[in-house]
Amino acid sequence: MVTPYKHEPFTDFTIEDNRKALEAELKKAEENFGKEYPLIIGGERITTEEKIVSYNPANKSEVIGYVSKANQDLAEKAMKVADETFEWWRKTNPEMRADILFRAAAIVRRRKHEFTAHLVKEGGKPWKEADADTAEAIDFMEYYGRQMLDMKNGVEVNSREVENNRLHYIPLGVGITISPWNFLFAIMAGTTVAPMVAGNTVLLKPASTTPIIAYKLMEVLEEAGIPAGVVNFVPGSGSEVGDYLVDHPRTRFINFTGSREVGTRIYERAAVVQPGQKWLKRSIIEMGGKDTIIVDDNSDLELAADAITYSAFGFSGQKCSACSRVVAHEEIYDDLLARVVEKTKEVNVQDPTRHDTYMGPVIDEAAYNKILDYIEVGKQEGKLMVGGTGDNSQGWFVHPTVFADLAPDSRIMQEEIFGPVVGFTKAKDFDEAIEIANNTEYGLTGAVITNNREHIEQAREDFHVGNLYFNRGCTAAIVGYHPFGGFNMSGTDSKAGGPDYLSHLMQPKTTSEML
Ligand code: SER
Repeated sequence: MVTPYKHEPFTDFTIEDNRKALEAELKKAEENFGKEYPLIIGGERITTEEKIVSYNPANKSEVIGYVSKANQDLAEKAMKVADETFEWWRKTNPEMRADILFRAAAIVRRRKHEFTAHLVKEGGKPWKEADADTAEAIDFMEYYGRQMLDMKNGVEVNSREVENNRLHYIPLGVGITISPWNFLFAIMAGTTVAPMVAGNTVLLKPASTTPIIAYKLMEVLEEAGIPAGVVNFVPGSGSEVGDYLVDHPRTRFINFTGSREVGTRIYERAAVVQPGQKWLKRSIIEMGGKDTIIVDDNSDLELAADAITYSAFGFSGQKCSACSRVVAHEEIYDDLLARVVEKTKEVNVQDPTRHDTYMGPVIDEAAYNKILDYIEVGKQEGKLMVGGTGDNSQGWFVHPTVFADLAPDSRIMQEEIFGPVVGFTKAKDFDEAIEIANNTEYGLTGAVITNNREHIEQAREDFHVGNLYFNRGCTAAIVGYHPFGGFNMSGTDSKAGGPDYLSHLMQPKTTSEML
């Protein structure tokens, strides 16, 4: 029997031993800078001429490493291996597959600070955010391992005296995991191990900005005893390798997390039935958000200001769950805005290698330019209260930025910026606040800060988001506690870290035997 699932605790870095442990790992990570990493196909290490270069976003001159880049020939080779491996992997014992995950989780847990240090460097994450990312990766492994054990006997269906009926779940086939750079460990690991433990084989194409953490996961899975060919590591460009694999007739499903632009493109491509294709591909697509915190007149404004500041600027706002809009009741609007502006001024922006960093850089030059362009738009549309500048002398740093007095349909209030920018707008009452909160094309997260019980119930019914929180911020969902995933243009409505997640990666089969 496995122990009941509990989420991985976060590290308390006010304890000196913990601080020293992470500092030591950060030094070791620096010693490993500049290494080369191969592809892994069928267990074979393959080095290519062309490389993806992974940089430290906080320090442009630091190369984390060079990762071999797959081309279409190698993608084809990987597909063949995954396809052949599926033929026997699909019949393996679910306990064995889950055990690989429990062991992998234990390996990461023992070397936790090593992974966290890597995330600080490759992802530009402040310590707390990096530690949470590592914890979430462990959680996904522990949680999906247990879920597979729960699902292995199928579900009860009715039988009759003359017949014995069963419904059980079988895997789908070869899946393509295309993972994001923001939860470079957690989401990458979750969207790789879930299909694997369900009995599928996987081609993992991580984000090109953060490929090395995915190589490190491959090493962990190998150490945990995963057979060659079950998960294959094929980093490469989206237009060359990504499209090729999405279009491939042997691809059975795609598990994507990333931008709306790429997600909708993948969804469209995956819908086309290619010559020789025998199924309709399943697409699990997790995209962006334009997430709102509503602050009611009867509410704790200090709590609201803390929730907004953390949700808007944690990891520089680079979360699909980040708060990028505040809808405040007109009675408390000025008071709340002043508090948020004060707290924003206290946010320090610096190298995340330092333990006291609140906010580090954004991921790369393209993100930096896009966010600064949006800041210019914001200056036209609203009133700049604080921030509004960047510093790219060493890394890609953008100062936390608050805009006030925006129209609900302004671009800053409608378009996903994916950076540390939050806009404020006023509502005359709670009905209007809900209406404004719902007026985007997304529907991922939201929060309501209120002491009014009726308003809590109204929001529970009418605030149309996949993850709705009361009297707290709108980020930091925990696997198994806050199943995560959104509505509308935020995705295909699955819940990562939720009780039915693996069913999206399997197909139910009914058998009926006459007695
Ligand atoms: N699950 C993350 C959060 O809740 C976002 O991907 O912040």
